[in-house]
Order: sequence, then C-alpha cells, then structure tokens
Amino acid sequence: MRKQIAAANWKMNLTYQQGEALLDAILKENIQLADHQHAVFAVPFPYLIMAQTKLSARKNYAAAAQNCSDQPAGAYTGEVSAEMLRSININYCVLGHSERREYFSEHNQSLAVKTERCLELGITPIFCCGESLSIREVDAQESFVEAQLKESLFHFSNDEISKIVIAYEPIWAIGTGKTATAEQAQEMHACIRRLLKGKYGQQVADSIPILYGGSVKAGNAKELFGSPDVDGGLVGGASLVAADFIKIIQALK
Ligand code: PGA
Repeated sequence: MRKQIAAANWKMNLTYQQGEALLDAILKENIQLADHQHAVFAVPFPYLIMAQTKLSARKNYAAAAQNCSDQPAGAYTGEVSAEMLRSININYCVLGHSERREYFSEHNQSLAVKTERCLELGITPIFCCGESLSIREVDAQESFVEAQLKESLFHFSNDEISKIVIAYEPIWAIGTGKTATAEQAQEMHACIRRLLKGKYGQQVADSIPILYGGSVKAGNAKELFGSPDVDGGLVGGASLVAADFIKIIQALK
C-alpha cells in the first residue's frame, strides 16, 4: 500500500515547552503505526532536535522542517540549509507552503531548487501546491496546480520524483474552517495523479503519496482520508491540540 501520512504543521505556534508537552501527550497515546503509516511533525527550527529525539524512538514517527534554503551554504543570514537539517537527522521538509509563497515571495522556480537540495541530501520534500479562491471561482484550479507541478517538479527523474510527497492545499481552505469536500479533494488528487502518470507512468504515479491540507479536523479526517487518492493530510490548526491530532493519526487508512 502507498505511504499514508498524518503531517502536523505547527507553523509559528507554541513555545518550546508547549511543543514538548504536545508531543508527549500524543506519544503517550502509544498509537502503533502500520508499516505504510507515518506521523510527521513539522515544528519550528529551534524545536527540531527535541522533536526528532522524542519521535525517532517510535516506529514511523518523525520530525520535519517547515522550510529550507535554496542555497547550499554561505552568507545567507537567517537561513537554514538542507545540509544542516541532514546533520541533525531530519528526513522531511515542507516546501512551498502557500504562506511561504504569499508572505515570503517563494515561487515555482526557487521551489524547484529547494526540492533539489532536499533530494540531494536524502530529505523527503513535502511539496505543497494549491489554488486560491479566485482561481477556484473561475474553475482554473487544475491548470494552476499543473503549472506549479510542472515548473517545480517535472524536471526530476522517475527515481527522484518517487521520493517526493505532494500536499494539495487549496488556499481558500487553509485556516478558514472551510474544508474542501471529500469529493473536491478526491477530484484534485486524482487530477494530480493523472498529471504524474502522464509524465512518469502509472507505477510512479501510484507510488507517490498525495496529502490533503486545509481545515482537516478530528471530525472530518476519516472521510477525507477515505478517498482513494487522498493519502493523509497536512494539518495546521488541529495539529496543535493533542486529542484532535491523535484522532487524525488514527484516521489514516
Ligand atoms: P489548517 O492549515 O489545517 O489550519 O487549515 C493547513 C496548512 O496550512 O498546512
């Protein structure tokens, strides 16, 4: 079975102590993950070592970075490189979140480079894509997401693309409480998989996990994750509450 992933995205929330307490509360639940199930926590940079130390003791639990630099090293004050992440055993990095695209001017070309940096170092990129409300209103979401994937990912080889996780996150559903319906999510996930198949063939397309993000909650995770092409979620708000994220992990196929 394809990898199924419940990914928490803490964004710029929680103090170190609150983050530690949240992880402890979730781990205390002792949810045993099957071979194909993974729980990933994208935490702020200063918490990565603490999170990775706690999580890596459990099967298929891991910490993730929320971003990395497109530069390998050097005079880039305030940046964190993929190599730095590798040196503390971080295996996942969220890239191209819509908040990064909107507030930090990230674009498809620089994201292509960031994705390359991660792949070079054996870090799995969780590559985010998704349309805004104005694009959805004119029914242009498929071509918009297609351009995001083509410009950032479609230069990779079969081998490289097989190491990527995609997160489809319609911007109109992020932090708004407006979730895409399970049908809307499935429709876009199927479209993404079709695009992958067109470029890389059926086998590769079938192997790539596509997560849904945008107001995933304890109460809707099961339904969303139940769709055939939805392989888990990237979860913001609900990942900050232990009881909620526990239910979201338990909703994985
Ligand atoms: P949300 O955020 O679950 O709070 O909508 C999702 C995300 O931005 O990854």
